[in-house]
Amino acid sequence: MFDIFASRKYSFEQIPDLTGKIAIITGSNTGIGKVCAFEMAKKNCTVILACRNKEKSEAVVEQIKSETGNQNVDFIQINLLKLASIKAFVDAFLSRYQQLDILINNAGVMMPPFGLSEDGIEQQFATNHVAHHLLTLLLLPTLQQSSDARIVNVSSMGHRIPFRRLDLHSISDPKKYNRIVHYAKSKACNILFTRELARRLEAQGIQNVFVNTNHPGAVSTELYRYTPSFATYILRSLVLITPEDGALTQLYLATSPEIKEKQIRGQFYVPYGVPSQPGGVAASADAPLELWEFTEALIKEKVASYEGAPI
Ligand SMILES: NC(=O)c1ccc[n+]([C@@H]2O[C@H](COP(=O)([O-])OP(=O)(O)OC[C@H]3O[C@@H](n4cnc5c(N)ncnc54)[C@H](OP(=O)(O)O)[C@@H]3O)[C@@H](O)[C@H]2O)c1
Repeated sequence: MFDIFASRKYSFEQIPDLTGKIAIITGSNTGIGKVCAFEMAKKNCTVILACRNKEKSEAVVEQIKSETGNQNVDFIQINLLKLASIKAFVDAFLSRYQQLDILINNAGVMMPPFGLSEDGIEQQFATNHVAHHLLTLLLLPTLQQSSDARIVNVSSMGHRIPFRRLDLHSISDPKKYNRIVHYAKSKACNILFTRELARRLEAQGIQNVFVNTNHPGAVSTELYRYTPSFATYILRSLVLITPEDGALTQLYLATSPEIKEKQIRGQFYVPYGVPSQPGGVAASADAPLELWEFTEALIKEKVASYEGAPI
């Protein structure tokens, strides 16, 4: 809550030169993701904005190009509420690029009224977790070709909002919907997915892919569109940090040479680039595999062409 007082272990100035690196950032036309795109472009990274809104995203691409001078900034449309769109995004990406070094799974939605994705999956679970699970696994073979690949799954301290079990089989049941608890579950899923993917990479001896997760801080962005305006006003006035500060922790995990030097894998970081521990269900021993198997089965049921995780 009081990220404003946290110590700074990373700064924009510490981002190394990213010439030759290619990055995808979901939800990068606003908020924390936009700052990541901007700062990485400044350091000569080729940045692909993976976003839903074409008009808004193309304007941001032009802004980043003109303000950083980096012309290697691209937009490829993705709608995380449609699993078919994830596959179409990956096909479009692979038709333009042969390499991927950094994937920041940043896009998210917080506490909306109940709604289902095109595939009939509750929208917070669908957007924040299922879509990013599929995106990551479709891109993993390409990431594996990088000498120092980074995957950052943006979670939240909201994963600590208490709940006893994920209750995955009723996650899309409107009668069981609690918009606060479902947000917490989706953000716990980001951590559980990170832990299970890191375990699988290690089990297969894959050394060059580093997957980690973070809480960016309580950040003043459009994420609060579904929270009461009075509460948001109080938060903004008192405790919320800027999107620039909110971007630092995921930029650390995505770009710092320390990740490779210190072999940081499957870890949870908080502002500003500080290691921490997840809590509640996100810390449990069995939930990473349970979530992985449930999500794989769910995607196979919804996407006929999905052959399963390559790991
Ligand atoms: N802000 C905070 O206090 C805070 C705290 C903890 C964690 N986080 C996490 O930080 C991440 C970034 O959030 P933010 O604060 O920067 O929020 P934001 O300003 O609301 O940005 C969210 C981004 O996600 C995109 N998005 C949402 N649904 C999508 C969909 N179906 N398909 C494609 N893109 C979609 C949005 O695009 P549209 O414009 O098309 O909706 C937007 O670009 C989220 O994962 C959030 O959970 C934020």
